[in-house]
Amino acid sequence: EEVTRVDDLIKKMTIEEKAGQMTCLADAFRPFNPPNPAAGIQDVKKLSEEIRKGRVGCLFNGIGVAGARKAQEIAVNDSRLGIPLLLAGDVIHGLKTIFPVPLAEASSFDPVLAQRTARAMALEATAAGLHLTFAPMADVARDQRWGRVVEGSGEDVTLTALLSAARVRGFQGRDLRRDDSLLACPKHFAAYGAVAGGLEYGSVDISDETLRETHLPPFGSAFAAGALTTMAAFSEINGVPATADRTLLTDILRGEMGFTGFVFSDYTADEELVAHGYAEDDRDAARLAVLAGVDMSMQSGLYIRYLPDLVKSGAVPMGTVDVAVRRILYVKMAMGLFDNPWRSLDEAAEKSRIGAPVHRELAREAGARSIVLLQNDGVLPLDKGKKQKIALIGPFGDDKANLYGPWAFYGDADKGVDVASGLRGAMVDPDQLTVVAGCAIHGPTDGGIEEAVKAAKAADVVILALGESQDMSGEAQSRTVIEIPPAQQALADAVAAVKKPTVVLLRHGRALAIHDGVANANAVLATWFLGSEAGNAIADVVFGKVDPSGKLPVSFPWESGQEPFFYDRKSTGRPTVPNGSTEYKARYATTDNSARYPFGHGLSYTRFTLDKLQVSDPALRWDGTVSITARLTNSGKRRGSEIVQLYTRDRVASRTRPIREFKKMERVTLEPGESRTVRFTLSRTDLEFVGAGNRRLAEPGAFDVWVGQSSEDGLHTQITLYAAAPASA
Ligand code: IFM
Repeated sequence: EEVTRVDDLIKKMTIEEKAGQMTCLADAFRPFNPPNPAAGIQDVKKLSEEIRKGRVGCLFNGIGVAGARKAQEIAVNDSRLGIPLLLAGDVIHGLKTIFPVPLAEASSFDPVLAQRTARAMALEATAAGLHLTFAPMADVARDQRWGRVVEGSGEDVTLTALLSAARVRGFQGRDLRRDDSLLACPKHFAAYGAVAGGLEYGSVDISDETLRETHLPPFGSAFAAGALTTMAAFSEINGVPATADRTLLTDILRGEMGFTGFVFSDYTADEELVAHGYAEDDRDAARLAVLAGVDMSMQSGLYIRYLPDLVKSGAVPMGTVDVAVRRILYVKMAMGLFDNPWRSLDEAAEKSRIGAPVHRELAREAGARSIVLLQNDGVLPLDKGKKQKIALIGPFGDDKANLYGPWAFYGDADKGVDVASGLRGAMVDPDQLTVVAGCAIHGPTDGGIEEAVKAAKAADVVILALGESQDMSGEAQSRTVIEIPPAQQALADAVAAVKKPTVVLLRHGRALAIHDGVANANAVLATWFLGSEAGNAIADVVFGKVDPSGKLPVSFPWESGQEPFFYDRKSTGRPTVPNGSTEYKARYATTDNSARYPFGHGLSYTRFTLDKLQVSDPALRWDGTVSITARLTNSGKRRGSEIVQLYTRDRVASRTRPIREFKKMERVTLEPGESRTVRFTLSRTDLEFVGAGNRRLAEPGAFDVWVGQSSEDGLHTQITLYAAAPASA
């Protein structure tokens, strides 16, 4: 029935109305205006006229029911065919209630948590009149200089795939037609996280195999979870901009991956084909994008301007346009917009759901679960009732402007809980806390260091709140050096010389290379950008109400210059070996190839030990499974949670394999003295990789298996995959 409905509609549409359905413009109806209005129509009168004429099918980046209703009324009541608008926006980690940035939340290694926060975001976004969010970012980030690392799930394909799917399930809920279902748009297709040197909007040069093995699977799992849209990446791949790449957007996305939804351009990426040197002019750019498989042009207006004439002249077949329009209309129909264009336009929900107290509670829980304890000599947790003077030093101590991180432009900055307020709120005697900035984020220090040193001398414990401002990561925020800005480093070094017990709270949107006064502190916590409840979540961990259980989704290198750096790198022909010579080995002259803190690393206030690694049968039959078990014991004095991780290595293969690959995880909470056996199952499919001819295959032979607490430790065993039953069987 839906097919007929859509086809009937397409028969009635003029080419201009079709191009209109394929056009998404910035929403001028609602109070929020995007930070970069660029080429869109910002004037409500003009935009109303465009909607009335059927020249717009989608609005983006505005919130508020009243404005959305006005726009929808024009589309439904005043346009010739009454096709409802799709209302989209960037709700990346929250609307009003801001949750931890996706990279932070990835530290929980917990798809259930990611699903819950995405659901809460969807409840708020749909209450503000939105139907679709441009999230999750499913790009695997291989270089920490890249600013957009912050929006994804880190450096690993499996973790990114699990979390992207969970977020899609959370955003969309069980039924797309419900008024609280927020359509997901996994982005940016594809390999955006592989831009050379981490340079935003840069070029990607990548093998077919790596594309399929590392960068496509998170999209595959997001589509399998029900996502019906995606967005083409800004970057070029192997010389062809993604926006004009028919092999990528049609042959691979649809042919190989079976995607049936529709594709957005990333903002004005179609227009940018000219600057890439790939299109002659704007008209040519529109032609290339539509022929490649971009169904919806965002913000440039190129489709509405050029498609009618491109079709008339025969440069673009009407059939291509019809296919794109059909995809868009199906999605609108799947969301129930044709039956109820007023879905998600409910003033009562707008009042009750946005910023609801339960969302704040969840933001606090998610915040605490996102914190990673990188090192601790026992100084943490602090005793909230002890008579001790605490000096909170650094530009992020009572700063509210950098709590949320990038892509939180609907959140009210003054409603966030800063670190000082969070700590004070937890302390029995809040007057024991002194707050000194010491310097501005990028300097100057203006005598601040002297003041900070004085405060440190007068204190029993120092907490240093240091790191990146929120505009140092996110779109267009690639960095050449991933260190703490020099003024803050100088502050940390001066305070370190006072030699008081010191805890560092890092604020950041990527892995950092930390040094000296920061790296040598008694404890270091990765606290990222945690959102509305940042200060409370930090206090929960600092004072031990919550035991830290986060694990790093990105490796922290020793030095900036080690990037790109990720744990699942290749051995090379000259790997370094523990305690071996480093001469003529694949390493940088001044640093080892290991990480300062590797992927998967994260401590707890208690101590976990693993032993008794057992494998049910070291021979894995082609269609069989093996169980790997290990005993986890809480050998410390506090209750805590550990994320036990399983890694493998294919010892010899027809394409060289990484030194380790993350495969499975299990979160376990144990009382002091308690033990539990953790069980993992491995089958042939867990050992597959993309081989020659882009075929996914597993090859018989030996595999290392580690069960551990990070990508650089663990108990080791070996299994062998047999093409047929082994002789002894
Ligand atoms: O969704 C974003 C995308 O990630 C980057 N460019 C702009 C889009 C819409 O705001």
